Amino acid sequence: MKFILALTTLALVVAAEQVSYKNYKVYDIQVTSDEQRTLLKNWQLVDGVDFWNHLGNQIMVRPETQEELEKFLTEHGFDYKVLIQDVQMTIDAEQRYDLQYRRAKLFSRRSSVDFIHFWRTQEIYDYLDELAAKYPNLVRVSDIGHTHQNRTIKAIKISTSHGSDSKPVIFIDGGVHAREWGGIMSVVYLIHELVEHSEQYSNMLEKDWVIVPVANPDGYEHSHSTNRLWRKNRNPVNILCIGTDLNRNFDYQWAPGRIACSETFPGSAPNSELETQALTKLMSRYENNLKLYLAVHTYGELILYPFGYEWPFIPVSNQAEHVAIGERARAAVLAIGGPDYLVGNSAEVLYTANGASDDYAVGVGGAAYAFTLELSGGGVFGFDLPATQIEQVARETFEIFKSMAGDI
Ligand code: ARG
Ligand code: ZN
Repeated sequence: MKFILALTTLALVVAAEQVSYKNYKVYDIQVTSDEQRTLLKNWQLVDGVDFWNHLGNQIMVRPETQEELEKFLTEHGFDYKVLIQDVQMTIDAEQRYDLQYRRAKLFSRRSSVDFIHFWRTQEIYDYLDELAAKYPNLVRVSDIGHTHQNRTIKAIKISTSHGSDSKPVIFIDGGVHAREWGGIMSVVYLIHELVEHSEQYSNMLEKDWVIVPVANPDGYEHSHSTNRLWRKNRNPVNILCIGTDLNRNFDYQWAPGRIACSETFPGSAPNSELETQALTKLMSRYENNLKLYLAVHTYGELILYPFGYEWPFIPVSNQAEHVAIGERARAAVLAIGGPDYLVGNSAEVLYTANGASDDYAVGVGGAAYAFTLELSGGGVFGFDLPATQIEQVARETFEIFKSMAGDI
């Protein structure tokens, strides 16, 4: 049975018609003044231009637009280099690796619990159910909603005292953005560690963990089967455009968007999307104990705190504590030889974003603390974290989780 399932997955992986990023380049642009930043921002609205990282200087550009962009950059005195010559090549390499991995797996008895491949939604869900069966005192898994394409959204609660809802809760959303695979895997790794090595983490388990590892399963599957760089969910907005950016759809300082095809389309109304509804409904169950909310994204090596809906930004009342918690997490990553994360207000170090989950968690959800983590992309790879680096990034991220859990 398992073999047949694996075979069908393999067939699906090979058969799907895929969006090509052939000759799409990623530019890394040095921005040295506010004036340059403003100039560059104008490109955000141009078709075929996708701002990849959040400091706004790694930009993917389709072939037809490259000449124009390069001309602009030269005219305005930007220093830049080409980070990725052909995005499709990195996607091809990723898929070759995955195919090889899954083929080898068919003929071996190795367990699927490893962090050298990206788990599909079903693998993650099967694992959650397995954990619930194997550790009934520690793990509860629930269906918290479904998607437009009728996929289930699952949550796992890890607690040493189920039933007595009194411990501080750490709430985590993963996979809100489909293409950010490294984030989903880092959350799966956290689940794995907390549950299967629980004896090592009694401190962390003084808190209850409520985790939604794949908050956007339709988008995540689409990013595997059809378009590696898909970000939004898969709910059609109109006959031309599909998808709402779930991290703009939360009902706190929500703002309408006019361009339905935009990568950051916020939905037709606040909380319009089934995925957002599932998350906020679950969050509301814990509003009295919600201590820390973490939105796990990639990439950028950033630890961001609210509020991020406006610039100049409105500080949260306990901003100093957010800074302290963030800085200690940063130090924890450094201490194991990881990258040097930047800690800051999201609107300041990144850009403003209305209707994001972190702002909602503090503004409405009652969370004492909230952060958006932009994890490491593993060097110059952007969203295409090589599968061989999953474990490393996940370990670094685990240090953030551990440090924050001990801090609140
Ligand atoms: N990369 C995230 C996004 O684009 C950042 C959100 C940060 N939060 C905020 N309220 N600005 O959705
Ligand atoms: Zn994201």
